[in-house]
Amino acid sequence: MKNYCTLSDIDNLETLIKEARNLKSKNLESKIGEGKTLGMLFFNPSLRTRLSTEKAAKLLGMEVMVMNVDKDGWALEFEDGVVMNSDKAEHIKEAAAVLSQYCDIIAVRAFPRLKDKQKDESEQVLNSFKKYASVPIVNLESATGHPLQALTDAITIEELKSREKPKVVLSWAPHTKALPQSVPNSFTEMMQLMDVEFVITNPEAYDLNPEIRKDIKVEHDQEKAFQDADFIYVKNWSSYENYGQIINVEKDWTVNQEKLKHTNNAKVMHCLPVRRNLVIADDVLDSDNSVVIKQAGNRTFAAQAVLKRILEDTK
Ligand code: CP
Repeated sequence: MKNYCTLSDIDNLETLIKEARNLKSKNLESKIGEGKTLGMLFFNPSLRTRLSTEKAAKLLGMEVMVMNVDKDGWALEFEDGVVMNSDKAEHIKEAAAVLSQYCDIIAVRAFPRLKDKQKDESEQVLNSFKKYASVPIVNLESATGHPLQALTDAITIEELKSREKPKVVLSWAPHTKALPQSVPNSFTEMMQLMDVEFVITNPEAYDLNPEIRKDIKVEHDQEKAFQDADFIYVKNWSSYENYGQIINVEKDWTVNQEKLKHTNNAKVMHCLPVRRNLVIADDVLDSDNSVVIKQAGNRTFAAQAVLKRILEDTK
C-alpha cells in the first residue's frame, strides 16, 4: 500500500481486516515504525481520528506530530498559477515538499465546503498533498470519503456478525447541520466489497451519489428496510442532488427502540460524534443494541493495520 486515500488503495481487504483483528487480539506492538514520523494535519476538528491514529502510530514505534492547520498554520493556496495577493500566505507546493522532509507519512483531514459539488469531488486538498508530497498520504476524512472509518466499520461487522451473510442497513437520520456524505459514501463502498445483504434507507431527497451507490437497493420506507436487519448503521448526510442542502429535518427518522422491533435484534452503529435523541434515541444508545463504543475502539486497529502496511510496502 503506497497511500490510503480511498478504499481502492486496499489490495486485499480480507487480509487487512485479519491483520487489524490480529493486532487487536494480541495487543501487538510492532517496532516497524521506529525512527519514522507521522505528521497529522487537521483542517477540521476531530476526537477519534486524531487520537486513535496517534495511538496506532505510537504502537508501531512512530513519532507523531499534529498540527491544526486551520488554526495554527499559514493559510494555504491550492490553486496553480495564481497571484498570491490574498490572505493565503503559503502554496501547497512548498508546504507539501517541506513537510515531506519532516514526515515519513502525512495524514490529512479536510472536509468539503458543501457549496460546489464539482470542487468537492475534485478532492483538491487531499489530491494536492498526494501530488506535491514525496511521502505516502493517509486520508483522515476528506471531501467525499472516510476510508479509515469504513475499514473500522468492516472490522466491527466481521467481529460482531452472528450469521455468515448479515443484513446491514445504512439509515439516514435527522440533523440540524448540513453534514458531508463522506462517511456514508465510504461505508456504501465498503459494503459492496463485503459478503453482506446491504440496503440503504433515506428520505427521497437524500439519495447518495448514484456512482457510489451503483445497484445497491435504496428503500425509502425505513420500517420496511429495517425488517430482519442484523446491523443498522445510522448517519445523517446532506442532500447530494440539491448539493449540501438540508431539505427538511425529518424527525420521524430518529432511530429508537420502537424501530428496532422489526430487526433481528440489530446492532446499532454510528461513527460518532452522535447527537442524542435527534440522530439516535437514548433508549438505543444506552442499550445493549448499541455497539458505537466498541466501534470507536476499533479505530486504533484499523489505523494500525493501514500504517503498518504502508511502512512495510515503502521500506
Ligand atoms: N468518526 C470520526 O471520524 O470521529 P472524529 O470526527 O471525532 O475524528
